[in-house]
Amino acid sequence: MNKSALPLVIVSHALPDGWLDLLQDKCQLVIGPEESEGLTPELENWLPETQGLFSLLTLKVDDKLLSRAPNLKVVSNMAVGFDNVDINSCTKRGLPVGHTPGVLTDGTADLTMAIMLAAARRITEASQDARQGRWKTWSPTGWLGMDFRDATLGIVGMGQIGSGVAERALGFGMKIRFTDSNLKHDLADRFKAKQVPLETLLKSSDIVTLHVPLTAETHHLINEERLKSMKSNALLVNTSRGLIVDNNALVSALENKWIAAAALDVTDPEPLPTDHPLFGLSNCLIVPHIGSATWNTRRKMAERACENLIAGLHEQRLPYCANPEVYNA
Ligand code: DGY
Repeated sequence: MNKSALPLVIVSHALPDGWLDLLQDKCQLVIGPEESEGLTPELENWLPETQGLFSLLTLKVDDKLLSRAPNLKVVSNMAVGFDNVDINSCTKRGLPVGHTPGVLTDGTADLTMAIMLAAARRITEASQDARQGRWKTWSPTGWLGMDFRDATLGIVGMGQIGSGVAERALGFGMKIRFTDSNLKHDLADRFKAKQVPLETLLKSSDIVTLHVPLTAETHHLINEERLKSMKSNALLVNTSRGLIVDNNALVSALENKWIAAAALDVTDPEPLPTDHPLFGLSNCLIVPHIGSATWNTRRKMAERACENLIAGLHEQRLPYCANPEVYNA
């Protein structure tokens, strides 16, 4: 087959063997290095010709980049979140944007429970203390933490991942409260949960976990005032996007014990500099945005992104479209 007759697609970052198989005989691929900030100059040179862009959440797909790619037919983001893409600019240009909901629900909900439990039971501190010789004896008051059974879990955003967390939390015997922009009686019944306003949830939850997308409305949703309204023994868990929490306010909250602890899979910025004050706090557990980091999940995300990309190249409706309004024009 004459490869050059196939549509050109930029893949911003290299992926493991096999993950892009669906694209192999349908496109001519130009692929960036595994880890790079933005597009390499070599990939940028292909922008005028490219018809498809396969992006990771670390690539800023902004108006400037889009204006250099006049032949682009589709942006396919290998993530459920798409705050790295200027959606308005894509929609104005008639460009559908693909994303990958569904396939990372279990992986992210599992990781949420993992860091929630780790922070509640002070696993990192205890493990470091054991390794560094501070485990002198079995002490009745050593490394005491929080029980999950009967704890009130406040879920902010009851979408697929929020629901996945609720399902798991029920198994631990937690009481569930949630907020969502839509009334969700079915989920309230399913999880024996109460849907409450955010302010009520923050005041009354032992653990608050965040599962909303990053938008203008959710930017710094958890700010100083809201952190102060939480229980002083509360744990805050964030596996959504770092910018949903005001980082400076979180540092104050943890330093001044407005809340007891935080467990973060996402930060602002990413990566968080190693000298950031949050790293100096023993009541803050930080992992490097690994919510979806299982082989199975990441491969499925790549496949879903390939499916979106192929549909876009053929000018068909994307199976998972982040800006369906693009089809109304
Ligand atoms: C996403 O897909 O938006 C996640 O943050 C990746 O783990």
